[in-house]
Amino acid sequence: MAILVTGGAGYIGSHTVVELQNAGHDVVVMDNLANSSEKSLKRVEALTGKKVPFYEADIRDREALEKIFTNEKIDSVIHFAGLKAVGESVQKPWEYYDNNITGTLTLVDVMRKHGCKNIIFSSSATVYGNPAFIPITEECPKGQCTNPYGWTKSMLEQILSDIQKADPEWNVVLLRYFNPIGAHKSGTIGENPNGIPNNLMPYITQVAVGKLPKLNVFGNDYDTPDGTGVRDYIHVVDLAVGHVKALAKLAPGSGLNIYNLGTGVGYSVLDIVKNFEEATGVKIPYEIKERRAGDIATCYSKADKAEKELGWKAVNGIREMCEDSWRWQSQNPNGYED
Ligand code: NAD
Ligand code: UFG
Repeated sequence: MAILVTGGAGYIGSHTVVELQNAGHDVVVMDNLANSSEKSLKRVEALTGKKVPFYEADIRDREALEKIFTNEKIDSVIHFAGLKAVGESVQKPWEYYDNNITGTLTLVDVMRKHGCKNIIFSSSATVYGNPAFIPITEECPKGQCTNPYGWTKSMLEQILSDIQKADPEWNVVLLRYFNPIGAHKSGTIGENPNGIPNNLMPYITQVAVGKLPKLNVFGNDYDTPDGTGVRDYIHVVDLAVGHVKALAKLAPGSGLNIYNLGTGVGYSVLDIVKNFEEATGVKIPYEIKERRAGDIATCYSKADKAEKELGWKAVNGIREMCEDSWRWQSQNPNGYED
């Protein structure tokens, strides 16, 4: 039996396929390549020495899904496919709701028709909104999202929970990621943003490689130790391993399980700049700018539940995250386009 990885050519998906194959799982990938390149999967094959069966298909395409579930023996799905650019989602809400929500509804419908009722879903710390308390445990109430992207995650959590409640044969794992950065140690796969990056680490690495002149730090007047925003950065390989561990919660009768995947440590924007400079020896010029709309001051997890129930804990520290982000960017200044 195989695991279908939707969005498997993307940043987190490609790293997860490596860890799944290395752990001996059979994997099938589907991706419409809206935000990725098939080259990532070729590089995954080079890393694992195994073939990655790939379908270029959209999760909203029912016929394509039917074909995959008919051709392959799929017993569970790790569902990464989705659009994820916060700012773009404000400009194109319909596209985000259609892609992420219609897509997931279609996927889940085809899954149940084929008797496959096991899903791990990529959720986000964004569902906590401005968190009611810090560090954030899974008991923290969900909050108001500040953009359509965040709402798709929050709504899909609700939809998958309701489906599981109505039909207890479903096993659903909701993984709430904090801020994934870093790359595989080989430097051959990594994050490949389109255009100017929105997120902090790819922006820093593009400054470091000379593609962008300087970092804009969005606000230094937050109620944090140095005034800049604090986040829980997690190495993408640790995050990928978290998915392999979470497969245990797809065993019959597991029901609904929710886990934070973070490190439990918060770093400010200026902490990241300093750690990046120390890890790489490359200076990052920066300028303090206005706050970015929708940002919160502080967001970091308490990840004890995943450790207790899944035996998972992030092992890479901030130095490895910076070194590995830099290795990927410096070896592939244009991502997969080289
Ligand atoms: P990514 O864009 O690199 O990967 C998503 C993949 O899904 C891409 O390869 C894209 O081509 C594919 N895709 C998008 N829409 C599709 C569709 N309709 N049909 C088929 N494939 C489609 O992003 P990522 O950072 O690897 O994120 C993976 C998942 O994790 C996403 O659901 C994202 O929302 C979620 N997430 C990411 C972060 C983060 O900071 N990177 C944080 C929390 C949650
Ligand atoms: N930041 C800057 N300059 C930049 C980019 C970011 O100062 O050029 C700051 C932000 O203001 C924030 C911190 O760096 O304080 C992190 O920002 P990111 O954009 O890297 O990450 P966010 O925490 O805003 O959001 C990310 C994803 C969301 C996801 C969330 C999960 O973009 O999709 O992590 O915690 F939901």
